[in-house]
Amino acid sequence: MDQWVPRWMVLAKYLGVALLAVPVLAFAAYSLRFGLRGLGTDLSEETYIYTPDGPISNGAIFMHMLLGGLIMVLAPLQLIARVRTDYPQVHRVAGRVVVMSSIAVALGGLLYIASRGTIAGSLMDIGFALYGALMLGAAVQTVRFARASDAARHRNWALRLLVLAMGSLIFRLHYVLWYILTDGLWSNEQLTGTFDKVQYFAFYLPYLALLEVWMRRRTP
Ligand code: HEM
Repeated sequence: MDQWVPRWMVLAKYLGVALLAVPVLAFAAYSLRFGLRGLGTDLSEETYIYTPDGPISNGAIFMHMLLGGLIMVLAPLQLIARVRTDYPQVHRVAGRVVVMSSIAVALGGLLYIASRGTIAGSLMDIGFALYGALMLGAAVQTVRFARASDAARHRNWALRLLVLAMGSLIFRLHYVLWYILTDGLWSNEQLTGTFDKVQYFAFYLPYLALLEVWMRRRTP
């Protein structure tokens, strides 16, 4: 039998989801548009990320942005229980798109780091390469356990992948909050300040750790 839930709780839940959806959709749209423009136009006047006469590095990073925007929208939808139970085929197809796109996002980022390096140099390269490696691993594990019909492990890896898919947005949200609170203390345009250095790892590792704690408490 369905458990009775107070109406205010249902409303609060929908309000919370709507509030979370705003930054997710805004950043996904920004990323999709940036990716599309970089794939079709010479952006060398506009951004250091564009490499003049660098088709491989440009293809890798702008396809990365395009597919990154896509997984930010599709991955959270995989959480909707009703879709999983009533439309399993939709869940499967969307799941494959998310996994394949995540692999391409991670490989695109890693290829860019290997060919151009990040704006701030080796420590940021390490932080972002680890982020890419974790996304790659989580995507492979998610599909591996789905194929093995191991629902519990599949769910855990899919949740890790979701947290990583939101990492890029979290990175920017940390900056927005930090600049509002401190006016950019220990941070600079080259991203080499102390705050920036913490950021290379702080946009995904603490959130993955919190998720591990939550998953361990949930499953005895
Ligand atoms: C859903 C996930 C992701 C999205 C939506 C995304 C989106 C973006 C966007 C829009 C940029 C352009 C920079 C900006 O406008 O601020 C960018 C840059 C970059 N991304 Fe990602 N990204 C994602 C995941 C990753 C992953 C997993 C890696 C790790 C390999 C990565 C590595 C990079 C690197 C190295 C840059 C260039 C950094 C620089 O030197 O400025 N991204 N990404």
